[in-house]
Amino acid sequence: MRRLKNELDGKRKHTITICFANNKGGSGKSTTCSNIGAALAQKGFRVLMLDGDMQCNLSLSFLEEDLVLDYAKSSNNLYDAIHKGKELTSYIVSTPCENLDLIPSSTQMSSVEYELAGRQQRELLLRKLLAPVKESGIYDFILIDAPPTLGFWVMNLLCVSDYLVIPVEASPWGMFGLANLFEFWQAAKELTPQLDLLGIVITKVDARKLYFRQTLASLEEWEDIHIFSTLIHVDSNVEWAQDNSKTVVQYRKASRSAKEYVALAEEMLGIVGNLS
Ligand SMILES: Nc1ncnc2c1ncn2[C@@H]1O[C@H](COP(=O)(O)OP(=O)(O)OP(=O)(O)O)[C@@H](O)[C@H]1O
Ligand SMILES: [Mg+2]
Repeated sequence: MRRLKNELDGKRKHTITICFANNKGGSGKSTTCSNIGAALAQKGFRVLMLDGDMQCNLSLSFLEEDLVLDYAKSSNNLYDAIHKGKELTSYIVSTPCENLDLIPSSTQMSSVEYELAGRQQRELLLRKLLAPVKESGIYDFILIDAPPTLGFWVMNLLCVSDYLVIPVEASPWGMFGLANLFEFWQAAKELTPQLDLLGIVITKVDARKLYFRQTLASLEEWEDIHIFSTLIHVDSNVEWAQDNSKTVVQYRKASRSAKEYVALAEEMLGIVGNLS
């Protein structure tokens, strides 16, 4: 895996930023984002996780709840940086996961749309605040967990990203609103031409139900959209890991879902490596 990292290092020109977004709630954004982060960190990449959601699920994936609440109540969170217009370097905190740092969120992020409403260039505020972190070259990857909305804030998240990953739940309503997300992505591309769709990952597949075949068939009707071949199955280890403030990749390496997230990370590296 060191070899892969070196190959990627050789080709990579800058920190790669990937946003996990889908306006459909509960599609697996936070779980996929956190586990891909843990898998990349485990491979030796330096990873920064940016928790862009007021639910703080990404923060809770790596830190104990009390600590997440402390950050949420303090001034050491993303909302504070947005509110004060401060650059993000000083908001980075370490986590127990080696090679992986975090910018924690806050429940106050619920008013971020209101915060942005009166600002000039309101789609690009985060770009300004994140620029010093990117320019420092400290991180190989910045992974962003988006909330289930499509407003100015998520536009900010897409406008700092090189790639968009869309987790889609293998369920009858899993694809509801996907067309809106594609339109939103196209709008973001006008401000951020480099923003590519890295792919769609099908999550929470229940092998007993075979419903995922329906999801896959519907997704394949969209032309030129990459669908990751790695499927993420339902696995109760994911929930036990989250209950222990960890990703399943850290918590239960040998589990089916941990192996799937590692395989998905490798699939992503294969594409990012080829395109960089
Ligand atoms: N592979 C999996 N196996 C079992 N449960 C899972 C799996 N992936 C996600 N879940 C569970 O599904 C729920 C939704 O997942 P998650 O929070 O990652 O979705 P989300 O898209 O981030 O949601 P939101 O839109 O609210 O931010 C969570 O309770 C999570 O524990
Ligand atoms: Mg989430």
